[in-house]
Amino acid sequence: MDHKKTILITGGAGFIGSHVVRLFVKNFPQYQIVNLDKLTYAGNLENLRDIENLPNYRFLKGDITDEPFIENLFAQHPFDSVIHLAAESHVDRSINGPMAFINTNIIGTVNLLNATKKSWTGNMENKLFYHISTDEVYGSLGEEGLFTEETPYDPRSPYSASKAGSDHMVRAWHHTYGLPVVISNCSNNYGPHQFPEKLIPLAICNIKSNREIPVYGKGENVRDWLYVEDHATAIETIFHSGKTGRTYNVGGNNELRNIDLIRILCGIMDNRLGRKQGESEKLVKFVRDRPGHDLRYAIDNTRITGELGWRPSVGFRKGLEKTVDWYLENEKWVSSVLTGAYKSYYRSQYDDR
Ligand code: NAD
Ligand code: TYD
Repeated sequence: MDHKKTILITGGAGFIGSHVVRLFVKNFPQYQIVNLDKLTYAGNLENLRDIENLPNYRFLKGDITDEPFIENLFAQHPFDSVIHLAAESHVDRSINGPMAFINTNIIGTVNLLNATKKSWTGNMENKLFYHISTDEVYGSLGEEGLFTEETPYDPRSPYSASKAGSDHMVRAWHHTYGLPVVISNCSNNYGPHQFPEKLIPLAICNIKSNREIPVYGKGENVRDWLYVEDHATAIETIFHSGKTGRTYNVGGNNELRNIDLIRILCGIMDNRLGRKQGESEKLVKFVRDRPGHDLRYAIDNTRITGELGWRPSVGFRKGLEKTVDWYLENEKWVSSVLTGAYKSYYRSQYDDR
């Protein structure tokens, strides 16, 4: 399979992107992988140290909102495919500052679509623009039901609205200009290398240093959790076998209320830190809720499992233990991201909450 040879992966220095880059670089030495990333606060080249010297990998620092830069990049490189993950990704930050989300998630995506369209002329059989999106575009579920690929879009945060906007743009470029595209919408990921602004790594770091665990509202919101390496295998499966123009929902049938997740996590942390069972849970603090907090997300994954044969391979408890162990064993990574900027972000989000 030597088509789709040169692949541009955007956002490859981030959490999910770094796992995707690693999987492609290691498993497909015949492909050239170019990782384009702006290295925002969420991008970290430490995530890729183990593969950075492999011959089929190259890193480029750049901003997808910079139109001339993107145009020039495509003029210089004959990309066969794009796997687009670069985004502003945190709901709480989108509430405080939506413009960065509009710029990167919508304008940045359109810049990539335009550059791809310009550079892919003629036969597009072996070309693919793969857009990575989120289940949050579907809005919020009540107690019952699951998101299918036919669920109408109903985004409710600036983050999810910007991702919904980018999904619409990708489909518009497909229907209007014939660009070969595929989209996947995945549920909440967790695992190594996730920036500790998101619930699980934030809680791990706080528990370790005996700080409060801020749980929004009553902790009754439900998320559907998938281990990040399983998302990476889903992306690889869709990249190679997904049908052009189609959407795939990705999730591992693993719904949990936030408070139940935190209790499981506290139990694992007690165990790993040699604390008495129940000790870490005392750190839970119910704090003021997130405005517009979506109640429940849950994915119906029958399309990707039925049509493409993908299955998640890591159960939640095992995945959470692996995640905890990674954070405890990688103190250097953790302290390198808990910078002054992180501390001032943390204060602005959680002081007086
Ligand atoms: P992340 O915030 O960890 O990483 C995003 C990466 O994009 C960073 O490396 C950052 O430097 C880069 N980036 C940001 N703005 C950029 C720009 N203007 N130009 C170039 N690079 C830029 O995010 P993540 O959690 O790894 O999410 C990756 C993708 O997956 C996003 O598109 C997100 O919407 C989607 N997604 C995430 C989840 C999740 O649970 N984290 C679930 C479903 C879908
Ligand atoms: P998060 O990791 O931010 O992902 P998303 O908002 O994209 O689902 O949050 C996961 C859930 O945890 C969500 O319901 C909000 C909640 N949450 C807290 O209760 N406390 C926190 O400090 C954070 C960051 C999130």
